[in-house]
Amino acid sequence: MDKILVLDFGGQYNQLIARRVRSEHVYAEIKPYNKISPQEIKEAGYKGIIFTGGPNSVYDTASPHYDPEVLELGIPVLGICYGCQLLAHLAGGEITPADSGSEYGKTELYTEDSVLFGGVPRESICWMSHTDYVRTAPEGFKVIAHTDKCPCAAISDDSRKLYGVQFHPEVTHTVYGQQILRNFLFSVCGCKADWKAESFVESSIEKYKTQLAGKRVLLALSGGVDSTVAAVLLNKAIGSNLVCVFVDHGLMRKDEGDYVEQTLGGKFGINLIRVNAEERFLDRLKGVTDPEQKRKIIGEEFIRVFEDEAKKLGKINVLVQGTIYPDVIESGKGDSAVIKSHHNVGGLPDVISFEEIVEPLRDLFKDEVREVGKQLGLPHELVWRQPFPGPGLAVRVIGEITKDKLDLLREADAIFREEIAKAGIESSVNQYFAVLTDLRSVGVMGDARTYGYTVALRAVTTDDFMTAEWARLPYEVLEKASSRITNEVKGITRVVYDITSKPPATVEWE
Ligand code: XMP
Repeated sequence: MDKILVLDFGGQYNQLIARRVRSEHVYAEIKPYNKISPQEIKEAGYKGIIFTGGPNSVYDTASPHYDPEVLELGIPVLGICYGCQLLAHLAGGEITPADSGSEYGKTELYTEDSVLFGGVPRESICWMSHTDYVRTAPEGFKVIAHTDKCPCAAISDDSRKLYGVQFHPEVTHTVYGQQILRNFLFSVCGCKADWKAESFVESSIEKYKTQLAGKRVLLALSGGVDSTVAAVLLNKAIGSNLVCVFVDHGLMRKDEGDYVEQTLGGKFGINLIRVNAEERFLDRLKGVTDPEQKRKIIGEEFIRVFEDEAKKLGKINVLVQGTIYPDVIESGKGDSAVIKSHHNVGGLPDVISFEEIVEPLRDLFKDEVREVGKQLGLPHELVWRQPFPGPGLAVRVIGEITKDKLDLLREADAIFREEIAKAGIESSVNQYFAVLTDLRSVGVMGDARTYGYTVALRAVTTDDFMTAEWARLPYEVLEKASSRITNEVKGITRVVYDITSKPPATVEWE
């Protein structure tokens, strides 16, 4: 399989570049610039290298640099933004700190004849975000595009297959960006488009048939997309040697536990053990109101239940984890402040000993995991499941958690989801749910005074859940949901809609 190296110099779009390459069915890997040498690049057999952008200036001593030998490997290079300046700098060009030349946003781009611009009109819009720029192209290079402020918006040395673009082809604002990437991949690097979900499924099944032959393999199934896809994939490879433990903590949405059990245990014939641990969890959560405390208790209890179950199973050789590529890239990047201690059912325990850990999805982005799920025949609603936090409804019941409150919330949440589905707007909202607040208020029903809970509805649109916008749901949907919830769920007398974005709020309330 042909592969492209995305050499990361700290740019904010590194993952996006890799995803854009992969969307052309060419496999791309991201490596930090200081973790791979030119020699290692050569040995790994990459068909091309993309230098990413970065926040720095090449003249900063602290800014990321690279061994100029990379230009002599005979492997094509495409430098983007800072990557373009670095390429020019390594090749002996001159970079200018461009006080007057800095550009930000949509910019008119004028291109010349070049293999990089096949199918790109002479004038088009690109996305710029830079202060420095390349003032004079290095020896052997020619200028193949400019803008009104930037004399070298793109440069090339066709004989060495070295290309640099000051703009960002990976963002959709660059109208012909994908075409430019395609030209680099296929016309410059000569890649074959053979990175496909079907071949991933086939080769993984073959690989695990051999690697895991005769071994007992354990997987913690949460019902989320990643662990579900991993389970179905491995089930195809090793059948009943795979044991999936599904810890039902009683904090699932309405009918969710049954759905997971019926679909995966029933339809897909996966060797599935459902542990009904509701009482254990609710016992431990009694009287607890602090959100972090709730999360910690659920995380710990989860591991305990899982351990107890694993012990009953006897000797297990391999633990499966649902790690995906963004987790791999993010790990080791330094810690940011803990806003919430996320508990992922996939990230399991140090305490049980296994000979081996297998991560069948560690090379995949989320959209590729979904594609693989589709390929494996998983139903649409499982593949396109919205994210659900590991601690489940515990972080959507504000204050103390009781079974009664959970039941109220489950009903309200189910109604909200039903109304969104009826309106046919599920795919335009990335996550939506109900929250049971700790607030009670006075209402009137018939001629009688009522005193019940307030439910908050939350719906967001987002690309990556790092930031999110509150969704502008149609009033009719909100009205219908509100009226049904207050009529059908006894104990809820008021419904409010959350109109806060992230930041400053988070998606979940706790
Ligand atoms: P926040 O609330 O941090 O949520 O803005 C961002 C996304 O993460 C989900 N979330 C979690 N996912 N374990 C998870 O696996 C957790 O503990 C957790 N807490 C929040 C949340 O639903 C949203 O999609």
